[in-house]
Amino acid sequence: MLGAIKIDLNRNLGLFVGHVNHEVNVCFEQHFPSCKGIPCFCFITKSSVSHSPIDWTPVDLHETLLRVVAQASARIFVGYPMCRNEEWLECSTKFAIDVMTGGEKLKLWHPWLRPFAQYWIPEMRQIRGDHQRALDLLMPELKKRATEAKTTDTAPRQDMIEWMQQRAHKIGDKSFDYKELANLQMLTATAAIHTTRLAIIHALYDLAAHPEYIEPLRDEIREVTNDGSLQKQHLTQMKKLDSFMKESQRHSPPSVATYQRKAMIPIKLSNGFQIPAGTVVQCNTNILEETPSSWGDAHAFDGFRFHRMREAPEDANKFQFASPSYDSMQFGFGNDACPGRFFASNQIKIILSYILSRYDIKFEDSVKGRPKNLMFEVNVLADPTVKVLFKKL
Ligand code: HEM
Repeated sequence: MLGAIKIDLNRNLGLFVGHVNHEVNVCFEQHFPSCKGIPCFCFITKSSVSHSPIDWTPVDLHETLLRVVAQASARIFVGYPMCRNEEWLECSTKFAIDVMTGGEKLKLWHPWLRPFAQYWIPEMRQIRGDHQRALDLLMPELKKRATEAKTTDTAPRQDMIEWMQQRAHKIGDKSFDYKELANLQMLTATAAIHTTRLAIIHALYDLAAHPEYIEPLRDEIREVTNDGSLQKQHLTQMKKLDSFMKESQRHSPPSVATYQRKAMIPIKLSNGFQIPAGTVVQCNTNILEETPSSWGDAHAFDGFRFHRMREAPEDANKFQFASPSYDSMQFGFGNDACPGRFFASNQIKIILSYILSRYDIKFEDSVKGRPKNLMFEVNVLADPTVKVLFKKL
């Protein structure tokens, strides 16, 4: 599976910008409130024309963005038309929640008892059910593709189903079957959807809390796209947006601890520190105090700090949202850093630029400042009770 993400997905990112953008458009049109305010009747022209400019629509970002991110990701994971299959979207998004809740409940049991305890925990039973359901839902598509491959000369599709099958075929993996493919699709969706959605919600909370960034970001989007259709190079050129996303993630990482590893052999570090075999280590991702002094005020929300840092020609390609470093480990680090981070970066830019170009946003008047994040173990969550108000431009 990793090869399908690390190599095939990343190699084809440019190809997908149009597909993902199209899916985001479709999804917003179908599932996002119109946010146009209340239609007004014009007494001079005697027609119902404009919309009240003062009306703002509250939007539950957690729910709406789950749908947008799931559908846009599915466009690349399972292709069209599966990406619009309601049952598939529901199954692939629910699976991650069952895994998280089931895992937490399982941890309450002694490790020796867990193999038996799994049969008592409802979410663990649901996970097995989700796997079967995913297979049942994918089956018609997989059979259709198998028939097409035998009977037509059409070029293979470019999506994760195809790459996973091709990779398994190439290495002669006999254990890879439709069931395995469906399980891998569920795992990919789990790694991708909730993390990406959360990063977008955090960024929108930061935008609503710091509205002075809205106009400069909108200007950048207008400038690079020239009001035309979105291309891969436009996303690379959105450096202010990239910087804003990275700053938002610096303040609200997905988790306060990443780079979780288990030492399989005893390790002695260069400073003499010993890590015995079997020890689980993880790195603190969110110590703002440890931010390098060259980055400026560590605690301030400075949305364009990384944009300024990239202005030096030798640093032009550093400090990007998807570039992990010792000082920026929100995607992990090293060979096993998140392989989906480039895809996530593109998706977040596509969705944020869609929103910024079409809507004004702000918090409800009752929300003062940036809502505090919630913690669930090491995970950093955006407060789900907060609603952001949207108004069509
Ligand atoms: C903002 C969105 C995302 C965040 C914050 C995020 C974060 C992470 C982190 C912290 C890790 C662990 C890395 C390590 O241990 O060094 C990880 C692993 C992983 N991520 Fe992401 N991720 C995101 C989006 C995605 C997407 C879109 C995909 C799929 C297309 C994906 C697929 C994976 C996979 C497969 C792994 C496991 C890699 C391995 O075991 O070697 N992630 N991610």
